[in-house]
Amino acid sequence: MSDESRPKAGPGFETKYQDDDYAARYADKHRTSVGRIIADAFEMRMAERALRRVGRVESILDCPAGAGRFWPVLHRYANTLHVADASASMLAEAERRHPEIPVASRSVGRVQDLDLAARSFDLVFSNRLIHHLPMAKDRMEVLTALGRLTREWLLVSAWVEGNLAHRRRQRRETRHPDRPSGRVFLPLATLEEEILRTGFVRRLVVRKFSGISPLVMLVCQRRPS
Ligand SMILES: C[S@@+](CC[C@H](N)C(=O)[O-])C[C@H]1O[C@@H](n2cnc3c(N)ncnc32)[C@H](O)[C@@H]1O
Repeated sequence: MSDESRPKAGPGFETKYQDDDYAARYADKHRTSVGRIIADAFEMRMAERALRRVGRVESILDCPAGAGRFWPVLHRYANTLHVADASASMLAEAERRHPEIPVASRSVGRVQDLDLAARSFDLVFSNRLIHHLPMAKDRMEVLTALGRLTREWLLVSAWVEGNLAHRRRQRRETRHPDRPSGRVFLPLATLEEEILRTGFVRRLVVRKFSGISPLVMLVCQRRPS
């Protein structure tokens, strides 16, 4: 699919998170059914496998941190956990849910606008942001901003093609072409090429649930200059 024919990011994609009630619902969303609890456990396992490839580091930035779902896992892999999100409501919800986890710094703002020095962290962890960006130029902007902040490692998730969820989405879009989704399934090769253009090399691809879920996490390392 060409970039022009991909659905645009849905209006309200960023704004819906700027709401305290929505933030509380998002935090609960992954625990509302047995299926979601299992899916969440698979997602934690995916993150843990990706983090194991790197090992323990001094500092991790979780961006977007959302409601802090990954903080318990990230905390195990870093001496200091730093967090950032475009939504103050989501960060406040995260802090309410995880008072036991020390947060070394918190920043509110879009990653593209954060006033943080380049290469401030050993590892930047970014889950569930890229699949909201159907346009390549928006993804490149976000990937570049995330990449600027890390000294070495960038762990980034996306939705890829070639699985049950993708086939279902294709069938739905055939039936309802007037109702495009704001979320994007990418060929893995496209994602890898964008990551390469950002100055990183993909070291590992971890899949949430092979053949079924579209969610993958790429472990990327800064390309030596
Ligand atoms: C789907 S949630 C994911 C949160 C968390 N990573 C997770 O997996 O549970 C998306 C988050 O991205 C944040 N967000 C959206 N655009 C952003 C941007 N440009 N920079 C930083 N955060 C952004 C939203 O506020 C929201 O909290």
